[in-house]
Amino acid sequence: MNFKPVQILSIGMSIPETVITNDNLTKILDTSDEWISTRTGIKQRHIANGDENSTLFGINAAKDALDKAGISGEEIDAIVVATSNPYNIYPSTGCAIQEAIGAKNAIAFDITVACTGMIYALEIGRSFISTGKYKNVLLVATDTNSKFLDWTDRGSCVLFGDGASSILITEAKDGNDDIIALNVNADGTMGKHITMNLIGDNCPLVEPAKEGCKKITMNGKEVYKFVMHTMPESIMQCLADANMEPKDIDYLVPHQANLRIIEGLQNRLEFSDDKVIVNIDKYGNTSAASVPIALYEGIETGKIKTPSYAILCAFGAGMAWGSAVVRLRENLNKKS
Ligand code: ACO
Repeated sequence: MNFKPVQILSIGMSIPETVITNDNLTKILDTSDEWISTRTGIKQRHIANGDENSTLFGINAAKDALDKAGISGEEIDAIVVATSNPYNIYPSTGCAIQEAIGAKNAIAFDITVACTGMIYALEIGRSFISTGKYKNVLLVATDTNSKFLDWTDRGSCVLFGDGASSILITEAKDGNDDIIALNVNADGTMGKHITMNLIGDNCPLVEPAKEGCKKITMNGKEVYKFVMHTMPESIMQCLADANMEPKDIDYLVPHQANLRIIEGLQNRLEFSDDKVIVNIDKYGNTSAASVPIALYEGIETGKIKTPSYAILCAFGAGMAWGSAVVRLRENLNKKS
């Protein structure tokens, strides 16, 4: 079979306007800007307000990517949405986005892989394109973890922010594949270290309704230890699959979960600061949306120059993790 190559056409993002600083959090938690900044690198996060929700941000991020690529909703063949806290379980966020952008020819569905969602979505999207059956695939990541955090647990609630991002991919007409290598992984035996239950109630004829648990729990130390050995392995494997070495890569665009984890990866790759994209200070951990938001801002601020090569990497609940070596084309996100 002749696999079709993939072109990354555009990247979009959408972030709530409301900003909560570390100092703001000291009003409800026994914490400090000093503790949060030094342990995580986070200074503030954007949080959904009122009726804002993950569908809304997902729609906005999807429209942004379409606009940047100059493509209409009708030209989209598939929409894959990575979300761990959809506004509705059904209809899926994918179907809501399909309606909102008029993508009447697209299939649409959601996947749940927490913070690694966009790397998994990229794997699904490129597989769709590689068969030749789908041409334009819209990948969206959207999470509003703020609605599911335990705001009395200072060990987890300070880490997250809300937001959405999108990547539009298409069949590469010139034969050059922009996804040079990609690996995704999962280890369910580590699942207990980050959880968000959606336990419903039984039929009232069986037993009375009980207090539901929709809160995120996290054993930060275990997650940290796990990530510090799996993520470098994943990146090195990806580089080997791409037949490249760290020196061939221009930028590391990592999941923005903790600055110390990012610095660990940076040291392993022996990258200087100008090669590592960091915006955790502004947004915190935006879960599945985090990597494309960093990529988007890296390009917009001029820190990322194109054409270039980047490593994208993410990890999170599952545990699941993954990396991709991608080509960033000259015109990426620059409307002609
Ligand atoms: N403010 C002040 N003190 C705090 C806070 C806070 N916000 N949070 C915890 N502490 C305290 C603890 O109570 C503890 O106090 P004690 O020593 O008196 O018991 C002390 O600080 C140390 O706590 P630790 O949990 O050991 O702190 P650690 O250095 O491990 O940092 C952190 C915690 C930041 C969560 C870190 O472990 C981490 O980043 N882990 C990785 C998390 C991650 O990357 N998750 C990504 C996936 S998320 C997803 O997929 C949904």
